[in-house]
Amino acid sequence: MSTKITVIPGDGIGPEIMNATLRVLDALDTDFEYEEAFAGLAALEAHGDLIPDATLESIARNKLVLKGPLTTPVGKGFRSINVTLRKEFDLYANVRPVVSLPGTRSNFENIDIITVRENTEGAYLAADAQVSEDGKQAESKTIVTRKGCERITRYAFDMARREGRKKVTIVHKANILKAVSGMFLDVAREVSADYPDIESSEMIVDATCMKLVMDPWQFDVIVTTNLFGDIISDLCAGLVGGLGLAPGANIGENAAMFEAVHGSAPDIAGQGIANPCALMLAAAQMLAHLDMEPQARRLRQAIRDTLEARDRVTPDVGGNGSTRSMADAIVERIQA
Ligand code: NAI
Ligand code: MG
Repeated sequence: MSTKITVIPGDGIGPEIMNATLRVLDALDTDFEYEEAFAGLAALEAHGDLIPDATLESIARNKLVLKGPLTTPVGKGFRSINVTLRKEFDLYANVRPVVSLPGTRSNFENIDIITVRENTEGAYLAADAQVSEDGKQAESKTIVTRKGCERITRYAFDMARREGRKKVTIVHKANILKAVSGMFLDVAREVSADYPDIESSEMIVDATCMKLVMDPWQFDVIVTTNLFGDIISDLCAGLVGGLGLAPGANIGENAAMFEAVHGSAPDIAGQGIANPCALMLAAAQMLAHLDMEPQARRLRQAIRDTLEARDRVTPDVGGNGSTRSMADAIVERIQA
């Protein structure tokens, strides 16, 4: 039986990079069946709804999503669609690996860091967010739970063990945010005690940013809360040459969604020059998630070789190729 995947092309550069990514998946002799679904601006314009019920039903049925970036319209009444999808399907673990690739604009080599970010609570799901009537004050309430802190840290340590990683760094700000970040740190410490085979360390978030830039090689797996994880994972993407190369998986007990870390890039949408690698690497994460490691490895290697040869690559990595030409180069290497 073929595996069914809900495919959301997304907004801006989304359809361009999704098209390229489905081409490489097909070249890998996968037996996937794609169910196209819509969300974001594209869905608002076509169906009057940022996330149509048909899309939610498709995800609930297939439990597997490959997703392009979505534009959340700025303005009142629009909650981030990404936050909504992660919450709706309880995709609590946001796994964002960065690996140095050849031929990019990175200033570093041999980077290999996975950020595991809590996805369903914390600052991005703030309760009672409001601006006072006179417009002079804004407030929101940040909530974390022991359960939320425990399952994300457990996920990070289990992943470290499964993938042969040596070290997990618990990133927090418990010295200042004593209640919220303090609970995260307490729980993470308890969880780490169950993994004597994995080295665990603790680091305050601002110091982490400095150390990531000065000595990124000391990091292996990072586990942290929602807001810190968002910022740190973009910093990590910068270490390996930018957002065009950074994938992310959103994992829950019952569903998983794979996407690029970057957004819909309206500044280059429609020009055919978006780098498809971030979404392709997300597809590789999906293959690994489906226990299709050999295909995941072939895809990653084809991307690496294409970048190294600077063969028809996109402008963001210093080439003058297009999304399509870069996909051609990667497909050819997969088939070679
Ligand atoms: P962005 O990530 O779309 O773009 C930031 C910069 O990186 C731009 O200069 C863009 O051209 C460049 N860039 C991004 N992806 C690239 C690629 N694959 N190849 C080459 N260059 C690339 O961030 P921005 O502009 O802040 O957000 C635009 C929209 O995307 C917003 O509506 C935002 O809400 C949405 N967004 C959606 C996300 C998602 O669906 N997961 C994540 C982040 C933002
Ligand atoms: Mg982000």
